[in-house]
Amino acid sequence: MKTLEEIPTPALILDLDRVEGNLRRMSERAAALGVALRPHIKTHKCLEIARLQRDLGCSGLTVSTLEEARVFAEHGFDDLTWAFPVILNRLDEAIHIAHEVDLGLVADSIATLEALEASGHALRVWMKVDCGYHRAGVDPDGPLAHELAQRLDASSTLRFNGLLTHAGHAYKTRTRAELSAVAEQERSSLVRLAERLRGSGIEVPSVSVGSTPTMSVVTDLTGVDEMRPGNYVFYDQMQAELGSCSIDDCAVTVLASVVSCQPEASHSVIDAGALALSKDALSTTGGDANFGKILEVLPPTPQPKPTRVSSLSQEHGIVDSSLAVGARVRIAPVHSCLAVACFDEYVVVRGDRVIDRWKIWRGR
Ligand SMILES: Cc1ncc(COP(=O)(O)O)c(C=O)c1O
Repeated sequence: MKTLEEIPTPALILDLDRVEGNLRRMSERAAALGVALRPHIKTHKCLEIARLQRDLGCSGLTVSTLEEARVFAEHGFDDLTWAFPVILNRLDEAIHIAHEVDLGLVADSIATLEALEASGHALRVWMKVDCGYHRAGVDPDGPLAHELAQRLDASSTLRFNGLLTHAGHAYKTRTRAELSAVAEQERSSLVRLAERLRGSGIEVPSVSVGSTPTMSVVTDLTGVDEMRPGNYVFYDQMQAELGSCSIDDCAVTVLASVVSCQPEASHSVIDAGALALSKDALSTTGGDANFGKILEVLPPTPQPKPTRVSSLSQEHGIVDSSLAVGARVRIAPVHSCLAVACFDEYVVVRGDRVIDRWKIWRGR
């Protein structure tokens, strides 16, 4: 069996001990909070990991693309939520999948509801609600929320599944208190709307919330039925900075090698650029860009260890110290979901032993 010093780079390394720990802890959190866990698989796009999540008792899966829905449906996952506003020009594909498995769709406009009704198919539909992120979803306090819910409730073909939101603005918080406030806003705005709708005679079967940061800090999910975090399977630098995890929980790293380092240069070039790490960046305390944190140099070197990937082009990455050509670095990505989507497979390790390779299903 190979070690990390023997595999071709760039490679995406999955630390299975850490994944198992992350999955177990979020399952325990969901159980302690009294809600079902429907993990978002857009982070990992991997059947083997979804099976681990199923073994831990998840209620179903959340997907972001029709390709994820198709692949996971074909591999025995029969309860899916496509948590993305329906792409109307692909409604036929969604209906095809919905005939094979239980597929929940998401709508937040009259135009979408009309198209779903016009299809004549019995479809299960969540109403997407904006809990403060202001990306998509109806205003929970506005008239459209009531109108859409009423139409869903009255529909002879569509089945109203309930209210669904995602607190993406949690990623903009700077303190734990701010993050906790967003988590409570995510819960309370939906519960308030559910109560209003129920008060006017509309049945709201389910309330679904969830992002990794909010689900990592929330202490009360009264009125909520399920959570849908995704990133928690791997975490990343951004989550560590937000306080969702520690850097030691980061379960995927990019393994890259030094391909160039000029004699007078204070930087080295590695074979992991934007198409391995993505262009998501954090700032150092000094205000410099950080596209990835260097966790380890292989083999260990007496030279000053680089700390970060400081700039990127498509396939080149620049690290902030000089290293011997051929040396390897292990990098914690800023945003693991985007880094994973750059690769075709995980190199699965326990410790530094490679034990398997798992496919990443990354079509759209
Ligand atoms: C609708 C929806 N639900 C759940 C999630 C999972 O959130 P996170 O990636 O913070 O775990 C996302 C992520 O973008 C999302 O868009």
